[in-house]
Amino acid sequence: MNILAPSILSADFSKLGEEVKAIDEAGAQYVHIDVMDGLFVPSISYGMPVIKSIRKCTDRFFDAHLMIEAPERYIKDFYEAGCDLITVHQEATTHLDRTIHQIKELGIKAGVALNPATPLETIKYVLPIVDMVLIMSVNPGFGGQKYIDYSTKKIRQLKEMIDDRGLSTDIEVDGGINTNNVKEVIKAGANVIVAGSAVFKGDNRANVKEFLELMK
Ligand code: DX5
Ligand code: ZN
Repeated sequence: MNILAPSILSADFSKLGEEVKAIDEAGAQYVHIDVMDGLFVPSISYGMPVIKSIRKCTDRFFDAHLMIEAPERYIKDFYEAGCDLITVHQEATTHLDRTIHQIKELGIKAGVALNPATPLETIKYVLPIVDMVLIMSVNPGFGGQKYIDYSTKKIRQLKEMIDDRGLSTDIEVDGGINTNNVKEVIKAGANVIVAGSAVFKGDNRANVKEFLELMK
């Protein structure tokens, strides 16, 4: 089954709890939580206290995307804030294998994210130990950017790598996804779909429902 993971980066922070409840009620399975440190990416978003607060608003799966340098410093804190899956960037942690184990030892899921320019080969050894690979289809840092076309080929190649090795790793795609290109990325092999601006611009409930219909 395909999963919709609305990115709350594009939500109205003055009523974040309501926004989270609305996407939950409309049927979105995950809440995609973008954490930015102003170093790995230019922006600063929000951290553990915000995650802890919205944890009270929904039982949905918390999908944390850490765009921070040396994420190994904070794994336990994000776990304690209520994250169900923690994704770290391959480019941000020196000892990726150790960081993945650190996440899994807490009993939650681990993901690894790749920037658009980072080759799939960089994760070939850790592929069997991660639950999800996140393909960035924009350069991380901001919502509302345009989908980078070569991402579709990258998703297709990752899907092949996973299938060839008999794995069942999830493929998440993040950046510039809208109702016009969502079918294309699913066809290429993605099964966890992040959408920020396309969900929170306008009527978020209606947008979630439209995505879920297209993702069937
Ligand atoms: C970008 C973030 C994304 C972002 C997606 O750095 O990782 O999750 O919020 O936003 P849209 O869907 O607007 O491209
Ligand atoms: Zn993200």
